[in-house]
Amino acid sequence: MDDHRAILEYHERSKHQLRRYAPGPGYLDWANQPDPFRTYEGAPREPLPLAADGMTVRFADVRAGRLPAAAPVDREAIGVMLELSLALSAWKSFRGTSWALRCNPSSGNLHPTEGYVVTAGLPGLDGGVYHYISRDHVLERRALWHTPAPPIENGVVVGLASIYWREAWKYGMRAFRYCQHDCGHAIAAVSYAAASLGWQTRMLDAAADEDVAALLGLDREADYGVAERERPDCLLWVGAGEPPAIDALVAAAHTAHWAGKPNRLSTEHVQWPDIELVHDATRKPRTPPSRSPAGIAVEVATPRLDLGASTVFRQRRSAVDFDAVTSIPAEVFYAMLEPLLPRPGTPPWNAWPWPAQVHLGLFVHRVEGLEAGLYVFLREDAALEPLQRAMRPEWLWRKVGPAHLPLYLLLAHDTRDTAKVICCHQDIAADSCFALGMLAGFESLVESPWCYCRLYWECGVVGQTLYLEAEAAGIRATGIGCFFDDEMHRLLGLQGQAWQSLYHFTAGGAVDDPRLTTLPPYGPHAPR
Ligand SMILES: Cc1cc2nc3c(=O)[nH]c(=O)nc-3n(C[C@H](O)[C@H](O)[C@H](O)COP(=O)(O)O)c2cc1C
Repeated sequence: MDDHRAILEYHERSKHQLRRYAPGPGYLDWANQPDPFRTYEGAPREPLPLAADGMTVRFADVRAGRLPAAAPVDREAIGVMLELSLALSAWKSFRGTSWALRCNPSSGNLHPTEGYVVTAGLPGLDGGVYHYISRDHVLERRALWHTPAPPIENGVVVGLASIYWREAWKYGMRAFRYCQHDCGHAIAAVSYAAASLGWQTRMLDAAADEDVAALLGLDREADYGVAERERPDCLLWVGAGEPPAIDALVAAAHTAHWAGKPNRLSTEHVQWPDIELVHDATRKPRTPPSRSPAGIAVEVATPRLDLGASTVFRQRRSAVDFDAVTSIPAEVFYAMLEPLLPRPGTPPWNAWPWPAQVHLGLFVHRVEGLEAGLYVFLREDAALEPLQRAMRPEWLWRKVGPAHLPLYLLLAHDTRDTAKVICCHQDIAADSCFALGMLAGFESLVESPWCYCRLYWECGVVGQTLYLEAEAAGIRATGIGCFFDDEMHRLLGLQGQAWQSLYHFTAGGAVDDPRLTTLPPYGPHAPR
């Protein structure tokens, strides 16, 4: 079967329908719950300092692209970059059970995304490939360069990889989608954290999956044995200098000294052949590097709260419940949407080398000065005509809000019940200020099937932006992976597979669960 068809079939089969959910395990096999932390036994460990408390950069500046002078690329700064992106942000505890939360969110808190740092060598850190253990805030040295080191100057390469089993254990066939969303969240988290150090982030998008696997050691069959495999996602160049050539990185990895054997995360596994199929169909070959899209030049409005960047990154949480009363002024809503428009040199879009392909279908419930109803927010003006043609002819398409914001009212109506039903009957979609679905065009998949993953990554990047914007707006957000795909399409009038809703989201006045205790992420009071 050709790759494009295989992807479309996977996409159909992994949809939740009103009358049947996508194939899943049907129950939670607690005895086989995957270990959320991967470690490489035998790899030398390099503890990182916890220095993010000393950061003074404001979130308002970072999100507007007003970055501080670039910090020297050293061990402490690498520690801060990880502490503010992939590290633990807290432990939660309830009746003797504890679980860690991280700066990056994850479907079901299962965290399939593994992080790596590749360096030519820094004071106090030998050159090589390091795996990051968020639980301990340490780097494990998987590979030590055999001289000469690849030309990595004034920056590091951050690698991301996914362990599908972590999500498949709970979610079955749909898990592949969630791993991709999580990867997008991680990309954005790295870009924001790096920006708070004055560093730019660029996706090394020319790399093939094979290159990513070779550099991170994911193709070292003998090392993995029975341990769950990590699948290559992407490489990000993070720093102030120019990125190294992929060939030089891969060549150095081939001659490096490798160490460490991965831990096994579960003793038994359920196979999900559809995930293997879609993984194979979305393998990325080497491609010419993309030119970063132009983006818009309009300033973003300041957020409602003036918070430190490191505070926002670490206090980000998913709301588990909303109060169904909190509303936000329209200006605050617009200020949350503005950063979703690509801006050159500004996180998270400095990490995104492709044109915007994801747009929002919004359910506005509680925004003062804006009628409740169904809206569309375009992240690329060129999508207006194709989306108008694809959707119901009766929609209003009335432009609302500031002139530079491509926000359109389709229908003034109370859509709370509709949003809730579409999001697998979850109250959080109705009790919030607004909910939304992320609409992606599938056209690019004909030529480049590997873009399927990138569409989800883009949704994850949009989601991470909204999570942080919600914190700065004094409300809270939640990603929603459980939704009835075709109910959203039916509502909007979208037919066939040309446009698909890939991720839902909601933001409002959060109600915390008072039964839970919050503990610090590290130190003597953190559970381990
Ligand atoms: C891709 C994705 C899908 C999610 N789907 C849902 C969902 O359908 N319902 C929900 O209540 N939370 C959902 N969440 C929120 C996660 O449960 C949450 O991120 C996780 O428990 C970790 O908590 P934290 O975000 O506070 O760190 C989702 C998060 C992500 C990243």
